[in-house]
Amino acid sequence: MPTIKISHLYKTYAGSDGEGTDALEDISLEIRDGEFVCVVGPSGCGKSTLLEIVAGLLKHDSGSVTLDGVPVNGTSRDIGVVFQSPSLYPWRTVARNIALGMEFSRVPKAEQEKRLKKYIELMNLKGFENKYPGQLSGGMRQRAGIARALVMDPKVILMDEPFSAVDHLTRCTLQDELVRIRQEEKKTVLFITHDLNEAVYLADRVILLSPRPGRIQEEYTVSTPSPRSRGDEYLNHLAARIMADINRGSREEAPEYSI
Ligand SMILES: Nc1ncnc2c1ncn2[C@@H]1O[C@H](COP(=O)(O)OP(=O)(O)OP(=O)(O)O)[C@@H](O)[C@H]1O
Ligand SMILES: [Mg+2]
Repeated sequence: MPTIKISHLYKTYAGSDGEGTDALEDISLEIRDGEFVCVVGPSGCGKSTLLEIVAGLLKHDSGSVTLDGVPVNGTSRDIGVVFQSPSLYPWRTVARNIALGMEFSRVPKAEQEKRLKKYIELMNLKGFENKYPGQLSGGMRQRAGIARALVMDPKVILMDEPFSAVDHLTRCTLQDELVRIRQEEKKTVLFITHDLNEAVYLADRVILLSPRPGRIQEEYTVSTPSPRSRGDEYLNHLAARIMADINRGSREEAPEYSI
């Protein structure tokens, strides 16, 4: 049974002027247990919308989303979300922000501290536990957002361009950490990125959405076994092919879009 099943999903945002914005059109996608799926596509094509619907944060108009056969109606402890811009509470320290979900779920204090220590180290935030979000760089805030999701040990991780504000070297390290976490802890991952090299390096499957309204334009299976090497010829070739398909899709539908 697939972990996430999205069937014929449509979403239109209502506009104040009566003109709606069609964001998603007839999206059907199954993500199997333990699979790593990357979603790419031009800016504004509906990627974040899709992720928010799967996370149970946004209502769709028609179609369905199920997690292990159960309709997604609101947020769930089984689904961890890393947002495009991490919304940390400015009045809470980094540690208290990361621990937020554990506090809500009444995880015992000792266990909270154990997990905090692990993810603060993993996300390279040691020494910044007691700082406030306003005292961090953009990349550090993003890493705190990632820690906040992982610390809950969710079955499914939804990530919306989680590494976009992280410097290149840290980005490579975090990518490898994610590959390791996913393999060791058997996570199912839905990952949005603008970076096609990142997509092919990480994913089992890459889904290309068309310019808005987002429809599934293409699907690519990345068969290279893990661990993969950066600069692998096949992966480079695949990234170039996806770029060509994006350009083709944009030319056919909306020339003003860029990735
Ligand atoms: N709350 C909202 N109200 C109205 N329209 C919205 C809202 N959120 C998004 N949209 C519109 O829906 C479309 C899809 O937006 P979305 O944020 O899902 O795109 P995206 O693919 O994530 O883009 P990016 O790559 O730039 O992050 C855009 O045209 C956007 O203007
Ligand atoms: Mg987005």
